[in-house]
Amino acid sequence: MATATEQPSSRNAVLDVEVPRGLKGVKVAQTSIGNVRGQEGFFHYRQYDATELAKKRTLEDIWHLMHEGELPKTQAESDAYRAQAGQLRLAAWTQVEQLVPGLVAGADKDKLDVLGTLRALIAAVGAREGWKPWLDLSAEEIKEQCSRAVALTAVGVAAIYRVKHGKDMVAPDASLPHATDYLRMVTGEVPSAEKADALEKYLDLTVDHGFNASTFTARVVASTGADVSSAVVAAIGSLSGPLHGGAPSRALAMVDEIGTKENADPFIRAIFERGDRLMGFGHPVYTTMDPRSIMLGEIADGIGGEQVELARHVEQTSLDILEELKPGRGLKTNVEFYAALVMRSSGIPDELFTPTFAVSRVIGWTANIREQVTEDNRIFRPSAQYVGPEAPQDVPTL
Ligand SMILES: CC(C)(COP(=O)(O)OP(=O)(O)OC[C@H]1O[C@@H](n2cnc3c(N)ncnc32)[C@H](O)[C@@H]1OP(=O)(O)O)[C@@H](O)C(=O)NCCC(=O)NCCS
Repeated sequence: MATATEQPSSRNAVLDVEVPRGLKGVKVAQTSIGNVRGQEGFFHYRQYDATELAKKRTLEDIWHLMHEGELPKTQAESDAYRAQAGQLRLAAWTQVEQLVPGLVAGADKDKLDVLGTLRALIAAVGAREGWKPWLDLSAEEIKEQCSRAVALTAVGVAAIYRVKHGKDMVAPDASLPHATDYLRMVTGEVPSAEKADALEKYLDLTVDHGFNASTFTARVVASTGADVSSAVVAAIGSLSGPLHGGAPSRALAMVDEIGTKENADPFIRAIFERGDRLMGFGHPVYTTMDPRSIMLGEIADGIGGEQVELARHVEQTSLDILEELKPGRGLKTNVEFYAALVMRSSGIPDELFTPTFAVSRVIGWTANIREQVTEDNRIFRPSAQYVGPEAPQDVPTL
């Protein structure tokens, strides 16, 4: 058996290698979209530090960087891209207005899942409009569908949430920044600059993050030649898992449940005694602090209040107990912990935490889909080690 570091001698050579479970640390593609350097606590979008981008540039500028390969060079270019994003939201509205009421109608309000309905919406748009396998499309057509998927996600999440709660859907306002308009479409009110800014920074920081499960999923589906909506829908499904994007509400729910500072220590120890995991801690790549949680923690501090104080206390207690009970594992606070706090403080309802993650990550997914399909696409086809009963065995007759 060869080792995982051996390279195939030709493009079609077949390797028989064993790799770590979950492909942890295995490089399965080349990318110029971005990367995470876990041990340094650093991640970047293309050649820029992502946290610096979040401090200095708008979400639309980052969208431009991911989809066009570079930042807008002038204010006019930046404004034009922002205006284009507004037009994309307006175009998405025509489908959302038509489809969302039907998708939600008759559903039990307490059961209806916003992220699941978003999957249905994007699948419906792709199916109804006959989005073709990308193999049959030009690069321009693929790009257009990717941009539409980004707009559809923001407009769709807001509309699904409002219809679910018996409220009128709010049409996009193309003149607003993408993050501000998303928040407005969710709450029905133009948010304060402070709230819009906090949410925009959260979205900036979560656009992309290396070869995480949902990004990999999007690329695997795209690698088959499937259409853009299929790849995005699959990525959303991957994001929904609590081990990936589905944890923010759980992390904050834990802080809510703890309720008081005194309660933190016994509550967290009880989690370990049950053999459960602490939500909002640990990361497959970071062994130092997640830079996203540092910045989001600072934004939360800026917002202030009792809840933030309690969260800081729960965080420190958790880190102390993790160090005591799981020493040497490098388990630190991950993005989910403060993400939830920042989203709630911005006015995002708890049930939209993961769908709001999709609103930014869809920019990264679609950049990855485009890279996958335009740069020497290869269908992903790994193998599994068969561990079942020895084969072949006689097929028993009845
Ligand atoms: C994110 C996560 C899936 C990463 O997992 P991973 O890097 O593959 O880590 P492993 O599952 O290999 O765990 C390594 C060790 O740390 C422990 N561990 C990892 N995360 C833990 C957590 N959140 N709470 C308690 N223990 C944890 C594991 O029990 C394991 O201990 P062991 O060595 O005694 O068996 C994991 O940390 C987790 O489940 N976190 C909670 C969910 C969450 O916050 N998800 C959002 C991710 S951004």
